[in-house]
Amino acid sequence: MAKKVVSDLNLKGKKVLIRVDFNVPMKDGKITDDTRVRAALPTIKYVLEQGGKAIVFSHLGRVKTEEDLAKNNIAPVAKHLEELLGQKVTFVNATRGKELEDAINNMNVGEVVMFQNTRYEDLDGKKESKNDPELGAYWASLGDVFVNDAFGTAHRAHASNVGIASNIKESAVGFLLEKEIKYIGGAVDNPAHPYFAILGGAKVSDKIGVISELINKADKVLVGGGMMFTFLKALGKNIGKSLCEDDKLDLAKELLEKANGKIVLPVDTVCAKEFKDEPGVVKSVDDIASDELGLDIGPKTLELFADTLKGAKTVVWNGPMGVFEMTNFAGGTLGVCEAIANLTGANTIVGGGDSVAAVEKLGYAAKFTHVSTGGGASLEYLEGKTLPGIACIEEK
Ligand code: 3PG
Repeated sequence: MAKKVVSDLNLKGKKVLIRVDFNVPMKDGKITDDTRVRAALPTIKYVLEQGGKAIVFSHLGRVKTEEDLAKNNIAPVAKHLEELLGQKVTFVNATRGKELEDAINNMNVGEVVMFQNTRYEDLDGKKESKNDPELGAYWASLGDVFVNDAFGTAHRAHASNVGIASNIKESAVGFLLEKEIKYIGGAVDNPAHPYFAILGGAKVSDKIGVISELINKADKVLVGGGMMFTFLKALGKNIGKSLCEDDKLDLAKELLEKANGKIVLPVDTVCAKEFKDEPGVVKSVDDIASDELGLDIGPKTLELFADTLKGAKTVVWNGPMGVFEMTNFAGGTLGVCEAIANLTGANTIVGGGDSVAAVEKLGYAAKFTHVSTGGGASLEYLEGKTLPGIACIEEK
């Protein structure tokens, strides 16, 4: 069954609680990437156009100490939202109390109120993150309906998503969450074949769940990034000083056996003697010297991956192929990004902070069918887990 969507609700004159994920990267109080704020605009605008009152809230970072409060003040994000919407956003520097309640009760139709970082409630007993029943009920009491548009947080069962949904009469997903369900959920439940997954990133341990799931569902799982070396060592190869999780070697062996040829590993790598952005040397994965470390996939691997992808109907990519922040070791990630972007007739989905950053930086975002706003959430979704932030919303 499908989830209720914001467009299924009657919003006229209603106080609409909109949970967004504005957990954006910030430097010196300035937003360095506003993708998540832009991604929430269609839902907020729709609520306003339909004659609703938009009460917007999100977490930002993690709040454990007094110092974290100032560091994770969400006021600059409210200001940015105001600029993007082109209308006033009344920011309330509180997560509860009279000032917030008055601001909401005085709202006119078509107005926006945003309140302080929901994780300010974590300072005293982790009320937000532990889904404190009183907090969820309180936030729910501030509105008439609840719209969850925070995909990035959907793998968390917190007061600001699950808590509110369990205490309010009507709930729905926003347009962003609807899109994430359509594309990532579609790849999980009903992918068109051939279906290929490309996984990278430093650690096997972060990707165990997703690899185990994908070797059952996908036709091939292409592995690159730092974690490739744990697999190569598990096959008995010398990987020199390359990154390796020795305690995961048995698991890597087990996954290779279970995959029965579905896991495609690199055949060459760009090596260096030190972890530095200096030109590397391409080596076959059988010839890595003991004093070398692999920092990217090599050109033959790129060719192998691009050939494998031909004819794909579904492609899911998560994790960079090498140390793409260093120019000399960005070739693999760039190449994979290009190969996916140039596929025709395939649903192409990219998720995960680093690979999404690579797609954006390289200017390929528009060529992907779906660029996910979720890091941990997109991985857990691909693992086939139920995401509490989705599960808590009413069915149609
Ligand atoms: C994210 O950026 O992955 C989400 O906003 C969740 O943040 P969290 O890992 O701090 O819960």
